Amino acid sequence: MVDIWQNAMDHAVTIARRAGEVVREALHEDRKVMTKSSSVDLVTQTDQKVEQLIIQSVKEKFPTHRFIGEESVAAGEVCELTDSPTWIIDPIDGTTNFVHTFPFVAVSIGFSVNKQSEFGVVYSCLEDKMFTARRGRGAFCNDQPLSVSDQEDIKQSVIATEFGSSRDPEAVNNIFTSLRNIVSLPIHGVRGAGSAAINLCLVASGCVEAYYEIGIHVWDIAAGSLIVTEAGGILLDVEGGPVDLMSRRILAANNTTIADRLIREIQSFSPPRDDEE
Ligand code: IPD
Repeated sequence: MVDIWQNAMDHAVTIARRAGEVVREALHEDRKVMTKSSSVDLVTQTDQKVEQLIIQSVKEKFPTHRFIGEESVAAGEVCELTDSPTWIIDPIDGTTNFVHTFPFVAVSIGFSVNKQSEFGVVYSCLEDKMFTARRGRGAFCNDQPLSVSDQEDIKQSVIATEFGSSRDPEAVNNIFTSLRNIVSLPIHGVRGAGSAAINLCLVASGCVEAYYEIGIHVWDIAAGSLIVTEAGGILLDVEGGPVDLMSRRILAANNTTIADRLIREIQSFSPPRDDEE
């Protein structure tokens, strides 16, 4: 069967690797840090440079395709997912890690057509791990197949989450309430790589049973979420029901038993949607 998007996926892998080289080189240079939505929502010139590099290179090969890019949206472009082939790009997922040289930084490239995810590429560039998934064809890390954990007992699980970049007191309160509830179940532990894309790849790799976060953006999760489902995992909203990638809420888990147990403990809230004007 002809796979019409394989060419685009091959290009995504090539460009993610090239972007990763730029990120690695920039770690040895001075990083000028700027802020966006809050004083802890960081951006550097490397984020902007890498996003431009990816978009330019894709435009040359696929001139009719559309883009949702973290830094383009920050610069005022609309965040709109249409039926057209769309590349959803986070040039550096884990910008805070990048700024602090904490070694988990990813280039994340999702691709969707008719609002359906067709492939996802997450390059964890300091670990040199290339995570890929093509819809219906499985998930891989450096070409080795991935599968989620088969753990069903929440008390034997490790759960990934993040504090995110909002310091709104109510949001912080909700985040701590969820954490306290979940830690007290008790579970084996809580982890967070500082990159939503890498957290999703950790679920896909079976290293953690689940990852949830409220406050992420579509570019953080577009690629990694397909990697989870292609590795046998599930995606839900934090209150249950189908995930909506624009809603800024996600729960990715190895199975419904773990997911349902977490849903009972998560104190949910609703940040403004990504596609809200
Ligand atoms: C952030 C990271 C972080 C998550 C934040 C994201 P960025 O993405 O994924 O782990 O907690 O919610 O915004 O800003 O580094 O691309």
